[in-house]
Amino acid sequence: MKNILIIGSSGQIGSELSIKLRSIYGEANVVCGYYKPPFPDGFFEAGPTVEIDATDISQIAKVVKKYKIDTIYNLAAILSATAEKYPKRSWDVGLGSLMNCLDVARECKCAVFTPSSIGAFGSNTPKDKTPQDTVQRPNTVYGITKVMGELLSDYYFTRWGVDTRSVRFPGIISNLTHPGGGTTDYAVEIYYNAVRGEKFICPVKAGTFMDMMYMPDALNAAVNIMESDPSKLVHRNSFNIAAMSFDPEMIYSAIKKHYPDFVMEYDIDPLKQAIADSWPNSIDDTCAREEWGWKPEYDLEKMTANMITVLKERKNI
Ligand code: SER
Repeated sequence: MKNILIIGSSGQIGSELSIKLRSIYGEANVVCGYYKPPFPDGFFEAGPTVEIDATDISQIAKVVKKYKIDTIYNLAAILSATAEKYPKRSWDVGLGSLMNCLDVARECKCAVFTPSSIGAFGSNTPKDKTPQDTVQRPNTVYGITKVMGELLSDYYFTRWGVDTRSVRFPGIISNLTHPGGGTTDYAVEIYYNAVRGEKFICPVKAGTFMDMMYMPDALNAAVNIMESDPSKLVHRNSFNIAAMSFDPEMIYSAIKKHYPDFVMEYDIDPLKQAIADSWPNSIDDTCAREEWGWKPEYDLEKMTANMITVLKERKNI
């Protein structure tokens, strides 16, 4: 049985990963660390919940020792568009927290999962079927922190034997906690507008393709890579994983099948457009499939049907 610490458990991924990990490993065995206060639905009180500023190593070390943690899910990050406004903060949160986790993990013999991103690629990376091992010279500070995070995690594995593993997440579409400040956030917000009966203003141009993934698949990836047989892993930090690639017109059409009167217009955000243009259109996830059995369940149609069903059932979205 694992003893897990999640750093960033009130964020977009952390809030749902907390629920998933507690359902698998038991509520008492998953410590939810948060920086911003957790959402107030009583969930976090079901198991240990602690305030942690991951840029302070002593706070991580204290919790890891107190709860005898053996696995850290380090989700602290500032997403791409916000990071461009606060580069120093993005660096401190993205890499400072990771370095702290890795040093504590080395001392206390923990495994560490830290997500990377499609943002770890840049405009001179092959755009279609982007290979696992390829050019990584991102144009954003977020992407730079992700590349450095991949290298640092591999370094701690080869140099110190810390069991680091990671995936490059595409844009993640979810219905519990909003992302905020990401370039791919439009693909979440569009569903909320459709269900509320409001027009959607899209910040990136038609024809802008990016990889996307529904949250249940992202959660399975985070769990399964940490459960996988280490002797099968040729790569570690980080694996390409893919589920679907679409542009704004494709997600709009998928939603219109459910809401024929739904209207989308464009008002391009130059920063988000530039970031999106520097990222791949679609990435090749063969290595993840071969080395640890990665396989997504949701495509655009199936995700759209589920998102709309869930959001319709919820009041005050
Ligand atoms: N969803 C992230 C962003 O848009 C990419 O990993 O910043």
